[in-house]
Amino acid sequence: MKNKSLVSITDYSKNEYLKIISIADEFEKQSVQPIMQGKVVANLFFEPSTRTRLSFESAVNRLGGRVIGFSDTLSSSVTKGETLYDTIKIVSSYCDLIVMRHPLEGSARFASELTTVPLINAGDGANQHPTQTLLDLYSIYKTQGTLENLTVFIVGDLKYGRTVHSLLMALSQFKTTFHFISPDELKMPDEYKFYLHRLGLDYYERKELASGVEKADIIYMTRVQKERFSDPIEYEKTKNAYVLRNKMLAGTKDNLKVLHPLPRVSEIEQDVDLNPKAYYFEQARNGVYVRQAIISAILGLK
Ligand code: CP
Repeated sequence: MKNKSLVSITDYSKNEYLKIISIADEFEKQSVQPIMQGKVVANLFFEPSTRTRLSFESAVNRLGGRVIGFSDTLSSSVTKGETLYDTIKIVSSYCDLIVMRHPLEGSARFASELTTVPLINAGDGANQHPTQTLLDLYSIYKTQGTLENLTVFIVGDLKYGRTVHSLLMALSQFKTTFHFISPDELKMPDEYKFYLHRLGLDYYERKELASGVEKADIIYMTRVQKERFSDPIEYEKTKNAYVLRNKMLAGTKDNLKVLHPLPRVSEIEQDVDLNPKAYYFEQARNGVYVRQAIISAILGLK
């Protein structure tokens, strides 16, 4: 992990996922550890973010480092026409680590090949969101006591949702049984289903959320990704495809947890928030500890 960029969740092995979980657990017990003094992280957000940007910032602050960067392109020279190539060349001479979110699939890999410092992909279009996946794994491990042999329902926008693409690839290392629930227009892309097929893993696909829900250990809800639709009418048709309500959790397993990478729009009713099976706010908080672990591992501080 040391000095290596994290662009795709497959850049790390199963053992490395477990290592990050173990370091994150240390940070959860003691979050303020000023081991990053003198180090600078550049947060380059070409797309909006609340959780990822602020939890990275919080993680660096708790580690005693400094953050530079921009939270939208309007405050950077991208608006004057500067290329991603030039932006990365320049910023990598100002910092020890780059965290980048960008709307284009493949942009993070491209940038990682240009930079002289490690780069963390904070989401590239509909492709990957590996740090979200590591915090999802941490959340699943904490609530289930294991990552092995779980039944995971993934619900909503499986076509454009980058968090579910990286989550599928990571969980495939742990003999997960997947249930994919989506409208026809937003089904899991074939490349990810082939990925599971090659590993000999079972998955089930359907449109109804309610059927079989009593088997789930994890329900991973997702937002329909409005910003990825070229046709607003298509978005309107699918935006309310699934709404999880508290009464739908009756008869589910005691260990079930409801996760969501957030932000949510309408796919989880607020009456679910008070159910002990709702875990999405704790999941977001875990993002700080997991990002502390990732930064420390990449900078060779842990
Ligand atoms: N989960 C997530 O990536 O949230 P943000 O878009 O707010 O960063």
